[in-house]
Amino acid sequence: MDKFKAIVVDQNNDNVEYGLKNISINDLSDGEVLIEVCYSSLNYKDMLAVQNNGGVIKNYPMIPGIDLSGVVVESSSSHFVTGDKVLATGFQLGMSYTGGMAQYARVPAEWLVKLPAKLSLKQAMIIGTAGFTAALSVIKLLDNGMKVADDPEILVTGSTGGVGSIAVQILSVMGFKHINALVRKEYQVEVAKHLGATRVVMPDDIKGNGKLLSKQRFNYVIDTVGGDVTAELIPQIHYGGGITMCGNAGGIKLSTNVLPFILRGVDLYGIDSVNYPIEKRLAIWKRFADDWEVFDKLQYNEVTLAEIPGVIEQLKSGKHLGRTIIKISEKI
Ligand SMILES: NC(=O)c1ccc[n+]([C@@H]2O[C@H](COP(=O)([O-])OP(=O)(O)OC[C@H]3O[C@@H](n4cnc5c(N)ncnc54)[C@H](OP(=O)(O)O)[C@@H]3O)[C@@H](O)[C@H]2O)c1
Repeated sequence: MDKFKAIVVDQNNDNVEYGLKNISINDLSDGEVLIEVCYSSLNYKDMLAVQNNGGVIKNYPMIPGIDLSGVVVESSSSHFVTGDKVLATGFQLGMSYTGGMAQYARVPAEWLVKLPAKLSLKQAMIIGTAGFTAALSVIKLLDNGMKVADDPEILVTGSTGGVGSIAVQILSVMGFKHINALVRKEYQVEVAKHLGATRVVMPDDIKGNGKLLSKQRFNYVIDTVGGDVTAELIPQIHYGGGITMCGNAGGIKLSTNVLPFILRGVDLYGIDSVNYPIEKRLAIWKRFADDWEVFDKLQYNEVTLAEIPGVIEQLKSGKHLGRTIIKISEKI
């Protein structure tokens, strides 16, 4: 096979650099399935992957990209044949295994999901890790008592980001009537409403004034931000309510107190999409294909491999909205 294009991240004298390069098939990690990549997507973690001390890439040089969708071109696995449409998110993709930001990827068969019939390769990447994580967060709360019939007050933090925007849309298409969206910039207000938020709240609106137990305002919180934002919110969760936490965009430390947990029975659920068991993944992707019509309202940009650095800058500076997908193959 001829040379093909990939984003390559390398480390020179402790300085991490990345750019578009021509590479060959031997530069890819081992795996049973060779895929012609059609789309990848950009996540917060991909932004971290190309930074100094980003903590994502385990060995250099590396092709980043924690998500990909494409078509199988070679397979030594009995589960996949040439021509199968597949997707992969998480595991070690773009961390210690060459990832999705390349025209070809070689992936262990046990990381791959067959694309559900009603989902396109492009739609799979509009969802990507961000949407998959949003789905896991919503499902965790549904499995623990959140019901449309109870008319709960739900708050989504980081609500115009990748995870948050898809969480708001899922809740909206499911028929939840009280979807509060936390944003921190005026121009995000209309975006959040368009996604289906019924009320938009700003950081000043959720200040709990450091009380150990504050006024009970939200039955459920889908938190993507972490840090001080989460600390403000936990004392405002209703008796018997719950909060999912998936992110640290606003800080890695959580300073809270035990009273919301021991006096109000609040539950805190950690969400991990990276090592989520492969045998349970198809069911989640099928919900996007069959039940959750989220694609009309989601905001996404489509870029090429060469345009990735510009989007990375937007993600770094907090100017990025919604999702960005990377179109790689022109063939499909
Ligand atoms: N656990 C998992 O498996 C998993 C999977 C996917 C993502 N994540 C994590 O989830 C987080 C969100 O990912 P993403 O892809 O949605 O990122 P994203 O698209 O960059 O969105 C981040 C959102 O957080 C908001 N935000 C950041 N700092 C904030 C602060 N101090 N106060 C209030 N809002 C703040 C941003 O608002 P602005 O636009 O105003 O900056 C933006 O809306 C990241 O930490 C990511 O690593 C975890």
